[in-house]
Amino acid sequence: MSTVEITWLGHASFSLDTGGSTVLVDPFLNDSPVSPVQADDVAADYILVTHGHFDHVADVVSIALRTEATVVANFEISEWLKKQGVAEEKLIAMNLGGGVDLPFGHVKKTIAHHSSGLPDGTYGGSAAGFVLSLPKLRIYFAGDTALTLDMKLIGMGGLDLAVLPIGDLFTMGPDDSIEAIKLLNASRVIPCHYNTWPPIEQDAAAWAERVRLHTAAEPIVLVPGEKYSL
Ligand code: NI
Ligand code: MN
Repeated sequence: MSTVEITWLGHASFSLDTGGSTVLVDPFLNDSPVSPVQADDVAADYILVTHGHFDHVADVVSIALRTEATVVANFEISEWLKKQGVAEEKLIAMNLGGGVDLPFGHVKKTIAHHSSGLPDGTYGGSAAGFVLSLPKLRIYFAGDTALTLDMKLIGMGGLDLAVLPIGDLFTMGPDDSIEAIKLLNASRVIPCHYNTWPPIEQDAAAWAERVRLHTAAEPIVLVPGEKYSL
């Protein structure tokens, strides 16, 4: 009875097929060394943007303009997207702690400990994650973040899936991700933001073994382009 499919597009980019909507998260495709697709080839009804860094916003404008998807981002990034030509009625501006009801479910913007400057130097507001409450599933995209005790609050509603960065250097690394999974109490976890470039190389199989040994979560290691149904 699986209704939701998640596809890793490499780095921190995901496509979620909820059955009724296609939701893209942080599309960074054309300049990503690991993306299995080009920006011109993806579908989108909604695009969720966690923060302003190039490896999260690079293809947002071109995909939004081509697909007429609605972009969900913080206020500052929304203002920047407007200047790049994205229509105001296709933008949903939010800020930390806020939520919005969309056709596929509720989307809430969560705290992330990270920065958010946009590629041209524009101030990009606060970095964030998202909790998606779909009819039967609660899914957390951490975005780029350090380990934070706030994850305990995020996990309190129960999480069917947590998507966490494990690359280290720019975000939490494997050690802190184990603590994050414990705080979140997620039943499944997908790692991201690793093996895009040499400075964030990680051994995902070794990470998965540690997750199995030290947490109650099932680790789901994907290769770019691979789908997982839940
Ligand atoms: Ni970042
Ligand atoms: Mn990043």
